[in-house]
Amino acid sequence: MSSDTQHPGLSTQDSALSTQHFWAALPHPIIGLAPMDGVTDAPFRLTVATQGRPDVIFTEFTSVMDVCRGPAHMLSSLIYSEAERPVVAQLYGKDPDVFYQAAHIVCELGFDGLDINMGCPSRSVAASGSGAGLIRTPDLAHDIMRAARQGIADWAAGRSLTDAGLKESRAELIQAMNLRRNGRPAAPRRTIPLSVKTRIGYDTVIVERWIEHLLAEQPVAISVHGRTLEQMYRGEADWSAIERAAQLARKTKTLLLGNGDVQSLQDVVRRVRQHAVHGVLIGRGTLGEPWLFRHKEAARAAVSDATRTVASESPTLEERFRVMLDQARLYEAIMDRQCFPRMRKHLGWYCNGFPGAAAMRAAMVRASSSEDVARIVAEHQAGSPLRSAAPPLETTASVA
Ligand SMILES: Cc1cc2nc3c(=O)[nH]c(=O)nc-3n(C[C@H](O)[C@H](O)[C@H](O)COP(=O)(O)O)c2cc1C
Repeated sequence: MSSDTQHPGLSTQDSALSTQHFWAALPHPIIGLAPMDGVTDAPFRLTVATQGRPDVIFTEFTSVMDVCRGPAHMLSSLIYSEAERPVVAQLYGKDPDVFYQAAHIVCELGFDGLDINMGCPSRSVAASGSGAGLIRTPDLAHDIMRAARQGIADWAAGRSLTDAGLKESRAELIQAMNLRRNGRPAAPRRTIPLSVKTRIGYDTVIVERWIEHLLAEQPVAISVHGRTLEQMYRGEADWSAIERAAQLARKTKTLLLGNGDVQSLQDVVRRVRQHAVHGVLIGRGTLGEPWLFRHKEAARAAVSDATRTVASESPTLEERFRVMLDQARLYEAIMDRQCFPRMRKHLGWYCNGFPGAAAMRAAMVRASSSEDVARIVAEHQAGSPLRSAAPPLETTASVA
């Protein structure tokens, strides 16, 4: 952040103003799609948006260094479709100056919000001080939030990407992404809201101290995954810790979304009733289930009216296959066709819970195109033995 543009964080009034953006208009409880690296890519998010429309959608996290200076292909995690709105870009990193620049790019790309990852436990991210590593450096976490907010404010006030210190070639790349998405070179200038996604502690639960610290910076929303970094994904999410975070947030204007082990809309109802969160993010429950949000209005109604229930109907097998094939075609249309092996894990997740699913999954982890997917489905439906297409390049049918 250059010193000529730097001034102390935005005033309370400015911060409250940003809550006038999409978050303030969302119905409660908010039911959103959690960010998942390697999973919530643009074709999957568009499929989820088309199938059930969550209230808010987050991109996979992207490093601020990659956003500002990385090779062009690293920006593919920031490709999105208009149908996903409201869609929030999630970034991680540890350098406030780079966050300041990256915030300009997120705004220029027309995202509805910017979310800072303070929860990723992976060795490569957290050990270097980014992601959940920021729980150990709370002052730096504040600096990063202020820098990102400043970047958003300066962009809204008219600052260009090159004025912010980014290269002309990066500005051209962003413009090309915008043109491809909606035919317009840049998004209209506006202030977008800043949110944070985090965990309940690093090696011990310090949720009160940590959330109080984040609340001091007035993010519009905090999403809390009810595990410490050290727990990774082991054990059960601690919803009593999430509830304590929600109680603190209720004294402020910040929204508190709970996250962890929510597998269904019935779980959403139970968690919101019991723990008084403003909303819930669902991650792994959506794998192979992009229609999970379909009955979210019934879930919302059931939160306030205990006599109501939420249907847990599954789509027919034909529909499951059609949605899977549509996602495979979207993958080819939106992403680089050569990256199709990354779609295989999704195919594997769709092949679950019906007779012959295991054989179909074994064939799908070798699919190299949507044509392969269509052929495997047709073979399954005809009852013929499933042939595989090619040697497996990536056989990730489980979650990292
Ligand atoms: C494969 C995978 C990738 C993830 N990537 C991200 C990420 O990019 N950003 C983030 O904030 N959380 C990420 N998470 C954490 C999820 O957003 C969520 O907090 C966690 O999975 C718990 O929610 P769930 O039980 O509903 O899945 C990831 C989780 C998984 C399983």
